[in-house]
Amino acid sequence: MTSVGIDAIEIWTGNLKLDLPNTFAPEKGEDPEKYTKGLGLNASSFPDSYEDIVTMGANAAYRLMERKGLGPEDIGRIDVATESSFDKSKPISTYIAGCLEQVFDGDFHHANKGERKFACIAGTQCLDDAYNWIKADRSRGRAALVIATDTALYARDDPGEATQGAGAVAMLIDEDPNVVELSNEQGYGSADETDFLKPQQQFPSVDGKRSMQVYLARMREALEDYESVAGASHPDDFAYVPFHTPFPGMVRKAGLLAYRHMIRNTPIEEELAEEIGRQPRREEYDDETAYEDAVREHMDALKETDAYRTWYAETIEPTLTISREVGNWYTGSVHVARVSALKHALENDLDLAGSTLGVGSYGSGAEAEVHAEVVADGWREEIESITIDDQLDARRSITFEEYESIHDAHNHDKDVDTTELTTPSAEFVFDGWGRMGERKYRFVE
Ligand code: HMG
Repeated sequence: MTSVGIDAIEIWTGNLKLDLPNTFAPEKGEDPEKYTKGLGLNASSFPDSYEDIVTMGANAAYRLMERKGLGPEDIGRIDVATESSFDKSKPISTYIAGCLEQVFDGDFHHANKGERKFACIAGTQCLDDAYNWIKADRSRGRAALVIATDTALYARDDPGEATQGAGAVAMLIDEDPNVVELSNEQGYGSADETDFLKPQQQFPSVDGKRSMQVYLARMREALEDYESVAGASHPDDFAYVPFHTPFPGMVRKAGLLAYRHMIRNTPIEEELAEEIGRQPRREEYDDETAYEDAVREHMDALKETDAYRTWYAETIEPTLTISREVGNWYTGSVHVARVSALKHALENDLDLAGSTLGVGSYGSGAEAEVHAEVVADGWREEIESITIDDQLDARRSITFEEYESIHDAHNHDKDVDTTELTTPSAEFVFDGWGRMGERKYRFVE
């Protein structure tokens, strides 16, 4: 069979913007540099009162189908990844299909629809499902629509409030894809963890510091599993490494860990040994604490080396550009990182076709997945069509008071009347409640 992968991508950001260093930090009595330098974030995207996971997902999918000239008959599967669902039975994919049927001729009655939940990794799992479905020859020549959509909101005054965001990524999975070809080179690291969860509640219970440790531990496990399939990895294997990005500071830590792992027992480690010594090996230490201290010290030295800084600047930094302006989009976040990297290649006129991306996805609870994908010949044209820069510029900046009222408007436990801060145009909007408590939507010209 021909190759299978991502044929097209569209991104939809929430229409509001919260400036973190200038609007949020002063109200919290914090140094703005905690955001810009520490977490690596300039702003968060927020949904206006008429936006939610359905409108954002439908808006991304609508633009994708329009641009590709597709109708409902071309889509055999709609999978939505979200951890912000407001319904425990009816999947968000049916709501989105209902929206799309308002604007396209025909219907999605013969498309299989579902919803995937596993914190932030569910978007990547949906890609896998779509890939497997096409590879199993069950698609009848149709493509799959994967939509990752979330409103990543935390309770007010939770430390996670700094990393909020809202947006959706729609991806078309098909044969002979234009953006990237997926492969069998894939590894998992998963364990029963209690780092971030929402037991019957809208906003997460988070053990923030622990969640960062779990992210790194599972990512390393996934990388080792990946290598059991693909062979030992090397920093030069990948043009870019897009990671799940809850905030860029997290990826700074993941990048360093991955680099240390990949250069072990390579000539790069030998060259660096003259400057910073060899990496500590566990068997050289009797005591675990002494070993961990030595590793920490080595990592601090490694991150200052020219070799690492150059690799990071070329391979990781370009994946973070959009994230810095939008915050965490949970399921969409790693897919935003991929777009960010490909945009960087486009803007710098790099010849990327045939290059490999190493993608590190993560979901709390917890699971990491590392896979390789190969950039396809048509990537340039696809990425040129993405309008995220214009969308980001068009967001309306909100004051701290507006932020408070928008947060309340999206809080399921609060019943507040909030006016719209922006005027929707050519997009789906929330249109009130139906008789069975369902949410209703309409398209605004
Ligand atoms: P915090 O305690 O508010 O922040 O929580 P902090 O004091 O740790 O500061 C953050 C960083 O800024 C630190 O950098 C500080 O040093 C630095 P680090 O030492 O770690 O490299 N900093 C400064 N830098 C320069 N100038 C300054 C300054 N001040 C501080 N003046 C925390 C941070 C991430 C814990 C919090 O935001 C949180 O709980 N976030 C939510 C959980 C999260 O995002 N975890 C990430 C891993 S889990 C994950 O990715 C899954 C997730 O997406 C959910 C899912 O899967 O569904 C969350």
